[in-house]
Amino acid sequence: MAEFSLPKNSRVEPGKTINAANGAKRARRIKIYRYEPDSEQNPRQDTFEIDLDKCGPMVLDAIIYIKNELDPTLAFRRSCREGICGSCAMNIDGTNTLACTKSTASIKGDVKIYPLPHMPVHKDLVPDLTHFYAQYASIKPWLQSDSPPPPDRERLQSKEDREKLDGLYECILCACCSTSCPSYWWNGDRYLGPAALLQAYRWLIDSRDEATGERLDALEDPFRLYRCHTIMNCARTCPKNLNPAEAIAEIKKMMLTRTL
Ligand code: SF4
Ligand code: SF4
Ligand code: FES
Repeated sequence: MAEFSLPKNSRVEPGKTINAANGAKRARRIKIYRYEPDSEQNPRQDTFEIDLDKCGPMVLDAIIYIKNELDPTLAFRRSCREGICGSCAMNIDGTNTLACTKSTASIKGDVKIYPLPHMPVHKDLVPDLTHFYAQYASIKPWLQSDSPPPPDRERLQSKEDREKLDGLYECILCACCSTSCPSYWWNGDRYLGPAALLQAYRWLIDSRDEATGERLDALEDPFRLYRCHTIMNCARTCPKNLNPAEAIAEIKKMMLTRTL
């Protein structure tokens, strides 16, 4: 009889607990996934009880407090603290989002924090985004044009053409959408995923770009584009309120109209 078991490191074991100091007025438990792939140990979940009066209002403030005051070995990414760089993306309270724009007060009960799902982990809350960025690079995210630029100014766009980039240019490549997409979980080696496809559409729709045909050719593949099954997790989770599923649908329309 076949026996199935989960890989050893898929079991998250209970970790240490650090209680808040006596007299904490607003004690709150923050439960954080900890993992060091190079160690022989399974991942664990550490519990840090902190006084919210001692840190700022966002989940990132709580994580920074924990690293500074309770456990300097905790690993996570952050930079701008303003929802602009995308580096603090993680799974908080069951949703992929940015730690710097998610308030602790918006979460009921314990605050549970994991790295972005279905990605290899370097350490703790730091996923390996090498493949994600390689996929982004594969869509050639830069202006391609054979026409020489005007000698004395930028390549201009009409107001209407510029507005077509709204809802696209705001993407901060945080990877919240791709790592919430079931199609990307199962076929991420070949399916480009919502983030890279939203970026692909951003260049397809840019009136100054002259490589539309080549860009569509590069996406004409059973996996790269067509693994999107309109499950919509991407649009639900995007912390910038963008809609990658809609961008993907627009690319499919462009494919269709050029073959008619
Ligand atoms: S579309 Fe939204 S969730 Fe996806 S990478 Fe861009 S900003 Fe992040
Ligand atoms: S709509 Fe497409 S890209 Fe978005 S989560 Fe669903 S399958 Fe993934
Ligand atoms: S730290 Fe830059 S988006 Fe959160």
